[in-house]
Amino acid sequence: MLKTAKIIPIEDPHNNEEKRAVIDRILDEYKHISGSTMVVLNQLQGAIGHISPAMQVYVANRLGQPVSHIHGVVSFYSFFTTKPRGKHTIKFCVGTACYVSSIDQIIEKAKQVLGIGPGETTEDGLITLELCRCAVVSVLAVRHLLLSLMKKFKDACNRIDSQDIQKSEVSN
Ligand code: FES
Repeated sequence: MLKTAKIIPIEDPHNNEEKRAVIDRILDEYKHISGSTMVVLNQLQGAIGHISPAMQVYVANRLGQPVSHIHGVVSFYSFFTTKPRGKHTIKFCVGTACYVSSIDQIIEKAKQVLGIGPGETTEDGLITLELCRCAVVSVLAVRHLLLSLMKKFKDACNRIDSQDIQKSEVSN
């Protein structure tokens, strides 16, 4: 017999009537189609925003699969999350090329600025920090972007400075 989650947090989608209806609709649509686990999980992630542990147990029961199988799929693919993400997600690649290019320093800076670590979301629900493996962009692209932004910032500061100087010359 399959296990059910003993304590389900009150805010879990599993306990929310509207969200539970969405979960059931997705399961009803695909439960008779063999090999549809990925489709079901993909739809749940898209519709609910995450797949909580209680949802994983529920999905396993409804699909007649071991909870370990559902959990294995959810934890293997970085697209799936077990907690709600913020409105925006910032992913830092910790693949080899980025790692040797000091991505850890950029991650440290992001942690200081946002006050959260990887896998966490800011209190206002705006930003989630995540780590990933090879996003195929490399930290060099990030560096290029940061350098370009810093140059724009510096140019803007220079413009403001020169306008202030001109104003003070006029007023004197
Ligand atoms: S190693 Fe970071 S993008 Fe590929």
